[in-house]
Amino acid sequence: MKLQIIVTILTVIWSRTNASITNTKLCFGENFRFGVATASYQIEGGWNVSGKGESIWDRYTHEHPERVFDHNNGDVADDSYQRYKEDVKLLKELGVNFYRFSISWPRILPTGFINDVNKDGIRYYNDLIDELRRNDIEPLVTMYHWDLPQILQELGGWTNPVMADYFADYAKVLFNEFGDRVQFWLTFNEPLSFCQDGYGGNDAPGGQASGFEDYMCGHNVLRAHGKVYTLYNKEYRDQQQGSVGITLDIAWMEPITTSQEDQDAAETARQFTYGWFAHPILTDEGDYPPIMRKRIDENSKRQNFARSRLPQFTSEEIQEIKGSFDFLGLNHYTTFMVSPGDNKTSTVPSFQNDMGVKTSQKAEWPKSNSTWLKVVPWGFRKALNWVKNTYNNPNILVTENGISLHPGLHDPKRVNYIDGYLRALHDAIYKDKCRVIGYTYWSLLDNFEWMRGYSERFGLYEVDYESPSRTRTPRLSASYFRAIATTGCLPNDYINYVEYTLTD
Ligand SMILES: *[C@@H]1O[C@H](CO)[C@@H](O)[C@H](O)[C@H]1NC(C)=O
Ligand SMILES: *[C@@H]1O[C@H](CO)[C@@H](O)[C@H](O)[C@H]1NC(C)=O
Ligand SMILES: *[C@@H]1O[C@H](CO)[C@@H](O)[C@H](O)[C@H]1NC(C)=O
Repeated sequence: MKLQIIVTILTVIWSRTNASITNTKLCFGENFRFGVATASYQIEGGWNVSGKGESIWDRYTHEHPERVFDHNNGDVADDSYQRYKEDVKLLKELGVNFYRFSISWPRILPTGFINDVNKDGIRYYNDLIDELRRNDIEPLVTMYHWDLPQILQELGGWTNPVMADYFADYAKVLFNEFGDRVQFWLTFNEPLSFCQDGYGGNDAPGGQASGFEDYMCGHNVLRAHGKVYTLYNKEYRDQQQGSVGITLDIAWMEPITTSQEDQDAAETARQFTYGWFAHPILTDEGDYPPIMRKRIDENSKRQNFARSRLPQFTSEEIQEIKGSFDFLGLNHYTTFMVSPGDNKTSTVPSFQNDMGVKTSQKAEWPKSNSTWLKVVPWGFRKALNWVKNTYNNPNILVTENGISLHPGLHDPKRVNYIDGYLRALHDAIYKDKCRVIGYTYWSLLDNFEWMRGYSERFGLYEVDYESPSRTRTPRLSASYFRAIATTGCLPNDYINYVEYTLTD
C-alpha cells in the first residue's frame, strides 16, 4: 500500500504529462526532467586528502598505470573536490532540473567500515547537496559508482558475501546524514559493467576470473541492493519519503537476421547482459533468468564442477530482491548485432562461453571515440520497448546516455547524437507508451574515463587538463542541451548542426 502511494507520488511529480507536439518542435511533457551525470572517482580528485581512504581505483591506477590507455589516474581528475561550486554554476547555466553524482565510499568511510566516519567526507557532500538545493537543482545520488574501499577488496570485495551487510551499513550512514535532503537514491551504477569488467576482466580490481568472480559479484550486489531497499522501507521511508532505485546498463541486442536462431541468440544475450540483474528485481517470479540458470548449470556440470558456477539465492533472498525498486535507472549508449556463438560445448568457463553468442557492430554505423560506442538511435527505442514489455512497464529514469568525441569546443556530432537519441526516446514515450520520467546526459564534464584515462571525452563542458584550475569551457553541445533543458523541446536553431554528417 505504502509503496503504491510512493510510486504514485513519484509518477505525478516526475512524469510526463501530455506531449505537446507542434508542427515545428518536438517537445517533452511539462513534468519531464532533464539532468546530467558524473561519478566521484571520475571527477573529484583529492584522492588522499582530509582523511579519505584508498579506493580500488586509486590502488589499481597507481600499481598498473601501463594498463590505462594514457597511463593516467584520477588523483586530481577535474578537481571537483575543490571546485564543486564551479560545477554547480555550470549546472545552473545549463538549466537542468537535477544532478546525478556519486558518493565516494572511502571518502565517507576510510576503513570501509562504520567504525570510522570521516567528518570531512560528510562535510564535502553536505556542502555539495546544499549548494545544489540553493540553486534549485535536485540531487540524485548514486551510492556506489565503482570506487570500493581498497581495504574491503582485500577481503575479496564483491566476491565476498559479507559485503552485502557492509554496504547496508554504509547506506545507513548516507540515509542518516543526507536523507533529509536527498529524495532520489541509486544503490549501484551498472553492476553488469563492474562485475564483468572488474571481476571478470581488466578494470579495477582486475579479477580476470570470468565465469566465477563475475557471478559472485553479481550475486552479492543483488543481495546488497535488496538489503538497502529493505533498510530504507523499515527505517527511513516514513520520515524521508524518498525513492530508491538501481541503475542497470542496457545495450540493445539486435538479431543479425530474422531467423529463429538469431532471434533466440539475441534474446539470450539480453537475458545474460540485462536480465541477470533485472529479472531478480523486476519480475513477479524473481531470481535469475531461467535461460541463464540453465546454461550455466549445464556448462558447469559438463565442466565437472561439483556445483553451478552461478550461485543460488535462498528463497528469503529471492523475496527480498523482488520488487526492490521505486524507479529504475537505465543507462544506454549503443547497439550490437547478435548471432549464435560457436562455443556451445566449450570446456573453458567464462561469461562469454556461458552466454554463447557472437556480437558485432555494423561498419556503416557512425563512430565515436570509444571502440564499443556506435551511434544507433533506433536501438534506444527498441531497448526501452523491450524493458517495457518484459518487465511490466516500470517507471524509468534514463540515468546515462552520451557520446565520446575528440577534444574541441565545436562538437556537432554530440549535438547530432543527443538529437537522435532524444527523438527515439520521444517515440518510445509518446508512441509506444514507455514510462520514462527523465533523461540524463553523460556527462556534465570531460572526466577520467576509467581504463581509457582522459583520452575519451564525454563532456558538455571541455576540461583543460593542462591548466592547474582544470578550466571548464562550454561546448556547442552545452548551449544545445541548455536549450532542451530550459524549454523541454528540441530546438530548431541547431538544425544545421543536427544535420551534420556523423561519418568519420
Ligand atoms: C597525495 O598524493 C599526491 C600525489 O597525487 C602526493 O604528491 C602527496 O604527497 C600525497 N599526500 C599525502 C598526504 O599522502
Ligand atoms: C571460444 O572458446 C575459445 C577457447 O575455448 C576462446 O578463445 C574464444 O574466445 C571463445 N569464443 C567465444 C565467442 O566465446
Ligand atoms: C580517441 O581519441 C584519442 C585522441 O584524442 C586517440 O588517441 C584514440 O585512439 C581514440 N580512440 C578511439 C577508439 O577512436
